Amino acid sequence: MSLSTDSLKGKVCVVTGAAKSIGLAIAVKYAEQGAKVALIDIDPLVEKSVEELVAKGYEAKSYILNITDRDAVLKCFEQIVADLGDIYALVNNAGVVDTRPFEENDEAVFEKMFKVNVYGTAYCIQGALPSMKKTGGKIINFASKSGKTGSALMGPYSAAKGAVIVLTQSLAFEYAKYGITVNSICPGITDATGVWSSVSAGYIESMGMQRDEIIEKFTAKIPLGRLTDIQDVVDFVFFLTASGEYCTGQAYNITGGREMH
Ligand SMILES: NC(=O)c1ccc[n+]([C@@H]2O[C@H](COP(=O)([O-])OP(=O)(O)OC[C@H]3O[C@@H](n4cnc5c(N)ncnc54)[C@H](O)[C@@H]3O)[C@@H](O)[C@H]2O)c1
Repeated sequence: MSLSTDSLKGKVCVVTGAAKSIGLAIAVKYAEQGAKVALIDIDPLVEKSVEELVAKGYEAKSYILNITDRDAVLKCFEQIVADLGDIYALVNNAGVVDTRPFEENDEAVFEKMFKVNVYGTAYCIQGALPSMKKTGGKIINFASKSGKTGSALMGPYSAAKGAVIVLTQSLAFEYAKYGITVNSICPGITDATGVWSSVSAGYIESMGMQRDEIIEKFTAKIPLGRLTDIQDVVDFVFFLTASGEYCTGQAYNITGGREMH
């Protein structure tokens, strides 16, 4: 399905982790709808992704940023507002995963999972709020199905994504008075992405299974009988950005029915 609207024309939408994969697909969708898009990523590849958007006539700017560096995040958001104007939507898509038996997780793994997935999300929200409070807008945080029901071999990641869900709820209460809605989304295994490629490699090593066997095992648990597509996530994020005015503090599953609460 391809949703479309005029309502995002000229609005500033910021997407983190937008160099590739789900983040880039969301940024492309916003650009196609006439939004002014800020693409943030730690990976300099984000510059090339933006060049391609600009070459197509879209308004987009790249920002190379490590979202775990709070000072740099706050400066970057000031720069985005100076370059493009007040922010209407912030999509906190940047995230990292790790897969290994729980006992093998050292301090560095816990730190990375929480610093990028939780602190990074929080810092970007802090960066965007001074601007968003002026006009209202939409904040969409990436949690995961693993943040609702934890996944084996992914304890620290699951805990971090659970934290994103509860952070979302706190901010929904706190910022509703400014016309800002704050929601999180919980995708299931999403094909053709960095996170799934890393998780499946971890499963291959830890479970001694082949990739096809792993996909079969996980697909069997999904009522709608397939993994999540990037487009499923893009459509839902787009709906929440362009509509969903009466929805805040929620954690929406995009899992083909695999997760139901
Ligand atoms: N792919 C899945 O199966 C799946 C399932 C559920 C939730 N998610 C969540 O969806 C989001 C996107 O997943 P994906 O598979 O597209 O990821 P990906 O690995 O393909 O892309 C993530 C992007 O985030 C960027 N990034 C990582 N650390 C960063 C940092 N410190 N600062 C700035 N940018 C940083 C990376 O460079 C990369 O471009 C993540 O939050 C992930 O946890 C993914």
